[in-house]
Amino acid sequence: MEYRGYDSAGVAVLDGGGALTVERKAGRLANLEAALDTAGRSSFAGTAGMGHTRWATHGAPIDRNSHPHRDGSERVAVVHNGIIENFAALRAELEAAGVELTSDTDTETAAHLVARAYAEGDTKGDLPASVRAVCRRLEGAFTLVVTHADEPDLVVAARRSSPLVVGVGDGETFVASDVAAFIEHTRDAIELGQDQLVVISRDGCEVTDFFGEPAQGKPFTVDWDLSAAEKGGHEYFMLKEIEEQPDALANTLRGHFESGRIVLDEQRMSDQDLRDVDKVFVVACGSAYHSGLVAKYAIEHWCRLPVEVELASEFRYRDPVLDRDTLVVAVSQSGETADTLEAVRHAREQKARVLAVCNTNGAQIPRESDAVLYTHAGPEIGVASTKAFLAQIAANYLVGLALAQARGTKYPDEVAREFAELEAMPAAVHKVLSTVDQVRELGRRMSDAKAVLFLGRHVGFPVALEGALKLKELAYMHAEGFAAGELKHGPIALIEEGLPVVVVMPSPKGRAVLHAKLVSNISEIQARGARTIVIAEEGDETVRPFADELVEVPAVPTLLQPLVSTVPLQVLAAEIARSRGYDVDKPRNLAKSVTVE
Ligand code: AGP
Repeated sequence: MEYRGYDSAGVAVLDGGGALTVERKAGRLANLEAALDTAGRSSFAGTAGMGHTRWATHGAPIDRNSHPHRDGSERVAVVHNGIIENFAALRAELEAAGVELTSDTDTETAAHLVARAYAEGDTKGDLPASVRAVCRRLEGAFTLVVTHADEPDLVVAARRSSPLVVGVGDGETFVASDVAAFIEHTRDAIELGQDQLVVISRDGCEVTDFFGEPAQGKPFTVDWDLSAAEKGGHEYFMLKEIEEQPDALANTLRGHFESGRIVLDEQRMSDQDLRDVDKVFVVACGSAYHSGLVAKYAIEHWCRLPVEVELASEFRYRDPVLDRDTLVVAVSQSGETADTLEAVRHAREQKARVLAVCNTNGAQIPRESDAVLYTHAGPEIGVASTKAFLAQIAANYLVGLALAQARGTKYPDEVAREFAELEAMPAAVHKVLSTVDQVRELGRRMSDAKAVLFLGRHVGFPVALEGALKLKELAYMHAEGFAAGELKHGPIALIEEGLPVVVVMPSPKGRAVLHAKLVSNISEIQARGARTIVIAEEGDETVRPFADELVEVPAVPTLLQPLVSTVPLQVLAAEIARSRGYDVDKPRNLAKSVTVE
């Protein structure tokens, strides 16, 4: 399960005699193994147990935040994937009842709640009923696995908007986030549905809903090998991660709109701090930089603030004008990129306030920033950024809405409306994913192209840059993104017979002038022999005559188009790379995190 990303790991085992043994450690799995050896537990005897590798969302990746979490009596152990949105209220309730919480996590609240439900009331002594009662109180996304020292034959697991599968073995039963955990023991599996709970024992498993009514999971047989299982059945992690983008967006947005207001993770910046901001810099590298270019249009439009988007590697060498009313947004999936980290340090030396947008809890860049907004894309294994990129755009938009909210440049109802439009994006991206077979076929036909140009206007321009970057880093093909208005200022000389040019169209219902200008750009390049591949809003008949290939994406608000128009470009680059026989997950010369300048 290491591939799922981890910053800590732990195990809990019921020895059958009423003892619950837990060992957990921050860092790599080797740290846990060493801790087990030290404790003389290099092998466990027991009747039931669980393990967990943590990709931290709430609480830094340190020992006391590692899973499994226990209640005060250490009789209940819980592991959890997801985000319990109402955990702050639950923590307050527990503390008011005199419960001492020992971690910073949302998960620990579940352990205490289960222990209380098991110890009293109409769920007393009934572990499945206790877990169901707790699940009914949780908001957000969760996969929970629960054991109790008094129930050595039971493991109870439940899910909402987070994966959970059951492995049905011979005299043994498993639950896991995905089949990779038990595929070596059994290929007979059951996928649980939304708001379902499973009780597993030596005799098998029983599935119910959160009210105890019998329910049916979806049985299936796993026909993948272990390597494919880790990739969700895909040939490469990147292809799986492209498919995970709706969840990455939903999980990044989840919990950031409460009582009619945008809330940032560890805001550590008051509304007054945000009101004092008179200039915004976004500093980042690569795809993260492109996410900043997209956000510039929204933040300037919503907040009427000047936004400069800077390559982190250039930022501090050009002696930028910064002061304490400057907000520097440092965007980084890994949170370890040296160029971006040095830009953060420079900004703070100049007394600017730094807000990190990061996908890795506890990484160096958020640790050295004044505030952080975590993306929740989950671990991104493929070197080429996909789900993290979309999540960065969403997070950058949350920053823009928080600024607009604090500064009053958007009324509360306008902020609510923009957030609601963002919340509709996972479904829109999911719709794009259901239509990309056309793009895969196109990619196979383009695999021998010598170069590809990408054109866009407005928020489509950074999308063109991102599409070119994907093609460069995956297919080692020369690719270049341009602002379409720049064509006549030189690049049009590149156009020749058969040259593929990808054009990212704005909505005809958005900035009509941009749409019209881009249509004329397409007719100019087509007249010179270009092979036009047009990404356009579904139903855009105006552009159809100029498209040698037309890829339709759902109609979404102008500023949100990058979230749907980027996806076909990711798929195109990956398919061309695959057709060329390259390793899509590990492109040559590249690393997932560039920790050197
Ligand atoms: C994008 O596909 C690349 N992997 C690369 O450009 C990446 O976005 C860049 O190195 C920034 O990484 P970070 O987000 O971890 O800081």
